[in-house]
Amino acid sequence: MTTPFTIETIAAHVGERVTVKGWLYASTHKGKLLFLQLRDGTGITQAVAFRPEVGDELFESLAHLGQESSLIVTGTVRANPKAPGIPAGYEIGVEEAHILQNAVDYPIGPKEHGVEFLMDNRHLWLRSKQQWAIMRVRTTIKRAIIDYLDDHGFYNIDTPILTPSAAEGTSTLFEVDYFDEKAYLAQTGQLYNEANIMAFGKVYCFGPTFRAEKSKTRRHLAEFWMVEPEMAYYDLEDLMNLEEEFVSYIVQTTLEQRAAELELLGRDLAALRNVIPPFPRISYDEAVERIQAIRAATDDPIQKELLAIEWGDDFGSPHETELTKQFDKPVFVYGYPSAVKAFYMEPWPGRPEVCKSVDLLAPEGYGEIIGGSERMSDPDVLLAAIHRHELPEVNYQWYIDLRRYGGVPHSGFGLGLERTVAWICGIDHIRQTSPFPRTLNRLTP
Ligand code: 4AD
Ligand code: MG
Repeated sequence: MTTPFTIETIAAHVGERVTVKGWLYASTHKGKLLFLQLRDGTGITQAVAFRPEVGDELFESLAHLGQESSLIVTGTVRANPKAPGIPAGYEIGVEEAHILQNAVDYPIGPKEHGVEFLMDNRHLWLRSKQQWAIMRVRTTIKRAIIDYLDDHGFYNIDTPILTPSAAEGTSTLFEVDYFDEKAYLAQTGQLYNEANIMAFGKVYCFGPTFRAEKSKTRRHLAEFWMVEPEMAYYDLEDLMNLEEEFVSYIVQTTLEQRAAELELLGRDLAALRNVIPPFPRISYDEAVERIQAIRAATDDPIQKELLAIEWGDDFGSPHETELTKQFDKPVFVYGYPSAVKAFYMEPWPGRPEVCKSVDLLAPEGYGEIIGGSERMSDPDVLLAAIHRHELPEVNYQWYIDLRRYGGVPHSGFGLGLERTVAWICGIDHIRQTSPFPRTLNRLTP
């Protein structure tokens, strides 16, 4: 009898007759033996056809299949320490095979291809094992995010995608025509989360967000997923405590469940195992001093140029990279100048030029993965901030209301899914962390 089967469970099926419904990833032959690397979406395994057993006709058909041909193979699983695959160490002795389609001239071969070519063929490139591994890690990270929050008393309350106004600066808005009015794709769900916590206590939204990022970098997408938890009665310290628990849960869960994929990607697993609380916490003031000291110590004129910074400047990616090299865990930087942050952040008591913001910077050069803050509590101070940022007051009346009717200290943060995937996978460009990334120069496929 045939057992319901997926390749990822192959170790549990040694000695059994199984059926793989999949695609041909690669093949080689040696005399009367044909080695087919089959993938079924859950893994890759070797199927071995022996000419005297399968007969000349089937052997020849299988031997002439192109890469990515679709086929169904039935045979018996055996352990073979030398067999490649994910998981490695098992193979299937082919008894029967049914070919659905012989794919001819599949465009992505084993040879090196340029990134633009691969991005043009993203619909096919996703089948390659590195890309497959990244997406498997991504789904596990998403699941860990949801599990952690659902298990810690958060309600998943959705926030709108079509919005009347900006929350994260007006320069990255995607405008859409909304029944002859202007609307914008959401840059964040945060402002709505702030309304939702006053009804539900602790909430999160998790979905796509949009930023018309006009620069090409390794860290920016025009459409990315963000999880945004928001909590009533949380101050800045509560916020950091939550963030470090949350991030370490995500990393450790991914390590437990996706070690094979991370190894396939060449990730240094020891660095990830180290991601456990507490994370170092430094002020923006201290971070600037540290970067200035790093700059003073370098002889490299280009680095000197890139690392120039004065109090009040926002960090660029070179600053974040050099700063995080000093730590082997993610590092919190809190208390940024208000002028470089969004309008809604609570001023630092006695230092109105500084706000109760905190960014979490990932190690190994990955930079900011979380932005968050304690939120402004005073309705008059908030209104003044809205005016200072030249935002249309009328669209924020409901937001100011939240401070008029039962206002409480509250905080929240946003973690960018793709940046987190890039860091955990150890890959150098964010475009590979999204199945179909949207960037300045790419809307297709
Ligand atoms: O720091 P940001 O802009 O914060 C907010 O949007 C807040 N409203 C979140 C909150 O407090 N609820 O963005 C948060 C995170 C960043 O740290 C980064 O990981 C990611 O979102 N992010 C991007 N990821 C990919 N491409 C982009 N263009 C991104 N912009 C931000
Ligand atoms: Mg930010």
